[in-house]
Amino acid sequence: MAIEKNILITAGDGIGPEVMNEVQKIISFLNHEGLANFHVTERPIGGASLDAHGVPVTDETLELGKSSDCVLLGAVGGTQWDHIDFALRPEAGLLKTRKELDLFANLRPALVFDALIDASTLKPEIIRGLDILIVRELTGGVYFGEPRGIFDLPNGERQGVNTQVYTTSEIHRVARVAFELAQKRGQKLCSCEKANVMESGKLWREEVSKLASDYPDVSLSHMYADNCAMQLLKNPRQFDVIVTDNLFGDILSDEASMLTGSLGMLPSASLGARDANGHQNALYEPVHGSAPDIAGQNKANPMAAILSFAMALRFSLDLPVIADHIEAAARAVLDQGLRTGDIMAEGCTQIGTSQMGDAVIDELKIKLMKAA
Ligand code: IPM
Ligand code: MG
Repeated sequence: MAIEKNILITAGDGIGPEVMNEVQKIISFLNHEGLANFHVTERPIGGASLDAHGVPVTDETLELGKSSDCVLLGAVGGTQWDHIDFALRPEAGLLKTRKELDLFANLRPALVFDALIDASTLKPEIIRGLDILIVRELTGGVYFGEPRGIFDLPNGERQGVNTQVYTTSEIHRVARVAFELAQKRGQKLCSCEKANVMESGKLWREEVSKLASDYPDVSLSHMYADNCAMQLLKNPRQFDVIVTDNLFGDILSDEASMLTGSLGMLPSASLGARDANGHQNALYEPVHGSAPDIAGQNKANPMAAILSFAMALRFSLDLPVIADHIEAAARAVLDQGLRTGDIMAEGCTQIGTSQMGDAVIDELKIKLMKAA
């Protein structure tokens, strides 16, 4: 009998519910086959939670997130909530969840699938075989630094303030995650900041450097974040793992995603520290947003959500082999020429969200049968 695991699903807004529905189908399939024993609880987040409970995430949902083996999130946000105060906006629900669960390490892989090589705006020879992992610090920096606010000055001007701040321990813990991941991959780690302009960047560089001797098998380099943005376009395959702060990570990961051709394919994992009992808070979400323009039309690409679930199987649910099978199944579906609208190309067959999910499950069945 497979070990029991508790999963909290917060589907959220826009296309979130649709893509998470495809993940739910895979979960039901794994349970039904006796390959997993997953208990799913569902709660709203973002705008959906705001409408239902008056806040973008409730304390009960946060507590459930902490006690679950992992949280699977769809997407948050939509134009109908754009006029609302920062503190109550759907995005605030996501930021609060990251902070409350102390999910300081955000893993954003950018991987080019051979079948999608023409979907990128870059030349195939630049991106073929690309496999980058961005490790973004997620609970500090300018996203959370104090003071912050919009202030009225005595001279009648208004002043907008945000504070970029990092401590040694915040830098060390995310850098260690990045070093350890680099050890398991290509043994290269590039740390990005603006040490030429910012004290927080100078500290970041010094503190990351101090850890290097603990990881002699990893070759560490440093790059200014603006140069990194340029190098990602010029020669992206020079990178293996990139570690960077919250804001630069936000920007560089969007840039890296487009090297792969579609935001609709990219998964992410946000991880906390492991406690003495072995429990680790973890949240998995597609990098794409809520895409309100195509919500509810069976058009969204569920692959990023499905691949995020594969990351959950690997990092939180102790089923790395099933994760491998799901990733291989996703690849096989693309090789068959099946495409949602966002990755549609000549000669391929366009299908909807639920058909894409079904196709992955069909391929998964084949992979499992071959492996048995
Ligand atoms: C991301 C998003 C979020 C961020 C938004 C939705 C708050 O852009 O996860 O990259 O800025 O972190
Ligand atoms: Mg972003």
